[in-house]
Amino acid sequence: MNPRKMKDKIHWLGAVDWDRRLFDALVPLPDGTSYNAYLIEGDDKTVLVDTVDPPMKHILLNQLEKVPKLDYLISHHAEQDHSGTIPAVLEKYPQAQVIASKKAKGMLVDHLKVPEDRFKIVEDSETVSLGGKTLEFIYTPWVHWPETMVTYLREDKILFSCDFFGSHIATSDLFVRDEGRVYEAAKRYFAEIMLPFRAIIAKNLEKLSSYDISMIAPSHGQIYDRPAFILDAYRDWVLDSPKNLVALPYVSMHDSTKIMVDHLVSALTERGVGVEQYNLPVTDIGKLAITLVDAATIILGTPTVLAGPHPVAAQAAFLANALKPKARYLSIIGSYGWGGKTVEVLSRMIPNLKVEVLDPVLCKGLPDSEDLKRLEKLADAVSSKHTEHKFESPVKRSFSHAPHGTSH
Ligand code: FEO
Repeated sequence: MNPRKMKDKIHWLGAVDWDRRLFDALVPLPDGTSYNAYLIEGDDKTVLVDTVDPPMKHILLNQLEKVPKLDYLISHHAEQDHSGTIPAVLEKYPQAQVIASKKAKGMLVDHLKVPEDRFKIVEDSETVSLGGKTLEFIYTPWVHWPETMVTYLREDKILFSCDFFGSHIATSDLFVRDEGRVYEAAKRYFAEIMLPFRAIIAKNLEKLSSYDISMIAPSHGQIYDRPAFILDAYRDWVLDSPKNLVALPYVSMHDSTKIMVDHLVSALTERGVGVEQYNLPVTDIGKLAITLVDAATIILGTPTVLAGPHPVAAQAAFLANALKPKARYLSIIGSYGWGGKTVEVLSRMIPNLKVEVLDPVLCKGLPDSEDLKRLEKLADAVSSKHTEHKFESPVKRSFSHAPHGTSH
């Protein structure tokens, strides 16, 4: 794709990765992604904001063919999908300097062997003038690495935010048009990499609240020309309080656990508790991660295999522990053949979860009427905890945004 004009002397560059389906060999990308770079031309100096993932460097280099001079290259974040093409860009422009935080410099030297003498280190709130355009660098650590920062272009009120506010969507739209679609993709991205750091991300949001932002240009997905939409979404996602929602990931081998899941979901629903159930062997873990942004309770369903939880359920427990979700309550349900230590093994796997454990419901073989009654008691306990804390329903988004006048 050719460079696309956003505003006078500001262009989108980068690559749309329509085919990518996995990130970090872990995170599903059902809609592909993009690696956005931006070119800003001042009266005196020209700057490139971020680069692209190395397999797509030829696309960025082609786009730069008509750019005779580059003074600066901003690296917001050292991860390869944004900084991996820095060495190639520096080779093309021997005079260009990399603008980065001190922490980012260390990482770029370690990971990409960027020469030490090519850097211009900037402090938090430092500014650089391009001539008629002023860049202000704002440190926003842990979005989602420790070195991350964003850039505010004062005269145009544009925030270049890298991963912050990004979404994995491959599309020909330059600006956000379908907010419902972007909401889900951005929430998935937040869940997968930022959820564990939400307390510091809340502080970063607070820091940005003093800036007059008319546009947010992330380095994945489309540009927000109505930034209130994504800022409001993030303010909700970083809240400490969870929602009236149960995340119920499960696996079942011979349907006994599945029968228990179905009965429990029905009982929870009758009591006004929302549930998202995930049959793990066929689940997109990104969807489960989205639910973990909101869920007040996690209930894991697993049969007993080799005296412990099914390995697929153990993997889900590992993921939940790593994401450190907001959940306040946890329980385990499932069926066993003759014995085992499923509850003990799973309990040891989730030290990061600060949860009250509600009585697990395990049954031998097929669940009988007494087992089903115990599941109803579990539903009562969940419902009463959610009611006691007045947990609200999750925010739903389903709306579209009229096309932007300059989108093309
Ligand atoms: Fe899009 Fe953390 O890189």
